[in-house]
Amino acid sequence: MKKVAVIGIGHVGSTVAYTLVSRRVCDELVLLDENEALAIAEMHDLKTGQVGHGGDVTITANDESQLSDCDLIIFSAGDISILQHSSDRFAELAYTKQVAAQWGPKIKAANFKGILLSITNPCDVITQYLQKLTGLPQARVLGTGTTLDTARMQNAVADALQIAPNAVTGYVLGEHGNSQFVAWSSVQVASQALTKQFTPEQLAQFETDARQGAWAVISGKGYTSFGIANQAAICANAILQNTHEILPVSNYDQQAGCYLGHPAMVGSDGILKDYQLQLTASETELMTTSIKKIKDMYATI
Ligand code: LAC
Repeated sequence: MKKVAVIGIGHVGSTVAYTLVSRRVCDELVLLDENEALAIAEMHDLKTGQVGHGGDVTITANDESQLSDCDLIIFSAGDISILQHSSDRFAELAYTKQVAAQWGPKIKAANFKGILLSITNPCDVITQYLQKLTGLPQARVLGTGTTLDTARMQNAVADALQIAPNAVTGYVLGEHGNSQFVAWSSVQVASQALTKQFTPEQLAQFETDARQGAWAVISGKGYTSFGIANQAAICANAILQNTHEILPVSNYDQQAGCYLGHPAMVGSDGILKDYQLQLTASETELMTTSIKKIKDMYATI
């Protein structure tokens, strides 16, 4: 039986929960939030969402004792509405570091032995902070990283070429934030480098579409949810089914000395292997800048 706890049942956490249930990613789901009435309401709503189509995920709420035997904890506590008034996910840290400091010790006290997947912004910094607070091995703590940013880049390129987004291979790397960058040397369509198919100006626009993708959504609905929930469910499935998928999750980079988005093999033991891309000189500079920003943000905790 695959058991998952979602901590933080706001717009993101509740959409993650619905996605896990509708895709039958797990068998048991525990909803935890400081707003216990909200967690109970989402439990009832999700249960009703299963009636009649056979999905029978066992759903409970507000029982922290269940953390100890979960296979996966997804940490999505935060307040993305902060980004309605800020252009940098760093703005969420003043609040989210407090929430992480509240839940990290609880996860440790529960003697949790599973995998911890963090969504909460600023993603790379909170992922590293949770690893410190829980004392879990670095490989068993990961963040959604630049999976969503990569999906946004794939969509932008796919729209321009009128092809399926998954036909675009390659990665956005670094911070899940403004210092992220597209490693264009890694991006291909039909095994052809994208740099040969578009002008630098066109590539720059695709990169902006990825970097600003969240605000394109937040400006209209006040938050994002479906994109990040999809990526979290993909990560959760890779962990629970031990798929060995290679995903640009936020994982600890020994050379950089911090968590950051770069390709890693994901399975039942979390990060099974990470991959260092052969970057161009300009991409290496961008990575250095991103690492510095992540480490400077972490130093403020
Ligand atoms: C976004 C949030 C999850 O990029 O940071 O949509």
